[in-house]
Amino acid sequence: MAVESIMTTYNRLSVAFERGEGSWLYDTDGNKYLDALSGIAVCGLGHSHPAVTHAICEQATKVLHTSNLYTIPNQQQLAERLTQISEMENVFFGNSGAEANEAAIKLARRYGHTVRNIDNPAIIVMEESFHGRTMATLSATGNRSAQAGFEPLVSGFVRAPYDDIDAIKKIAENNPNIVAVLVEPIQGESGIRIPAPDYLNQIREICDQNDWLMMLDEVQSGNGRSGKYFAYQHNNLLPDVVTTAKGLGNGVPIGACLARGIAAKILTAGTHGSTYGGNPLSCAAALAVVNTIMDENLCQRAETLGNRIADGFREQIGDADYVKEVRNKGMLIAVELSEAGTELAVLAKVKGILLNVTGGGKVVRMLPPLTMTDSEAELLVNTLSQIIRIYAADERSDTLEDSPKGERRA
Ligand SMILES: Cc1ncc(COP(=O)(O)O)c(C=O)c1O
Repeated sequence: MAVESIMTTYNRLSVAFERGEGSWLYDTDGNKYLDALSGIAVCGLGHSHPAVTHAICEQATKVLHTSNLYTIPNQQQLAERLTQISEMENVFFGNSGAEANEAAIKLARRYGHTVRNIDNPAIIVMEESFHGRTMATLSATGNRSAQAGFEPLVSGFVRAPYDDIDAIKKIAENNPNIVAVLVEPIQGESGIRIPAPDYLNQIREICDQNDWLMMLDEVQSGNGRSGKYFAYQHNNLLPDVVTTAKGLGNGVPIGACLARGIAAKILTAGTHGSTYGGNPLSCAAALAVVNTIMDENLCQRAETLGNRIADGFREQIGDADYVKEVRNKGMLIAVELSEAGTELAVLAKVKGILLNVTGGGKVVRMLPPLTMTDSEAELLVNTLSQIIRIYAADERSDTLEDSPKGERRA
């Protein structure tokens, strides 16, 4: 039955989970599902991770919220940990990826006004990008259908195709109002699109030449998922601003906008804020997450296991004509199909695998927990390869009942 009291902003699959453990979710009928999506790159440590659970419970017995009108000791600790890992200088905490990006956009505009003396500052953003659903982040997002019906959009964004350095150079020649570039190191929502290896380095160079801020949206790629804590750390460079969220709280809402150099001095008292942002509860959870990722070497694990999973798919279905490409950067994994395969998410769910199909319905996207075991990864590759094979052969879900290893019942 339709849940009419909830606005229909999502097309939901008909399953409700009541419990999770590690890479597994359990529904209200007792079926178990291998979670290869992690709540869209959120539960990087899997479900019910003891360190996170303990931190949340312990903090709940002390204090949940005080507001940013007072010192929050574990917010300070989290900021120190994150700035040390990222080589940035300071942090603004919000509650989501969109809020982290809003902070970055506001920071760039204020940098334009106060440092560059530009009345109408503009930010270069990319085609097919995704930065959030608030008005400014939606306007920055490169997806016309997500924007449709919400016009007028926020002005001050100039768009370039992704992974096209010449397009950025051309904008540099023609637009004196540019103050920043906002880009995902790997585009997530549009289908795990991985740019040329030196794309970010070239953007860094152009930003330096033009006094632009280089701002990276690591809401999806951050927190170990790409194989480094932040994806830009593959490129031996530092951005001026980096945003993250999702995997930072492992399910407790938190977002962060980190800055360094001149960018770290732009947002001063009274210029920006958030009631909840970085409250004691979310910071306790995030500290446990960050410490676990670092202490358990999960960045390295993401790289090794992500490559192994992608190689497994290449081995099993890489040569099939219905598979265009298998690609990954750590545990951002995509099987791109030659034809749209939107129904695959439903079929996979029937066989007990949770994933998502994005990139115009052609990209099977997997964002498994970084803590996934070798045998779970093998199960994922074997089961999903078979599902994709069967799907491509145009068989339907009743045929799937015979496939091996697709255990559903707990
Ligand atoms: C790269 C990127 N930026 C921003 C967002 C928005 O994050 P949130 O939904 O937490 O606002 C997302 C969400 O998918 C994302 O992938």
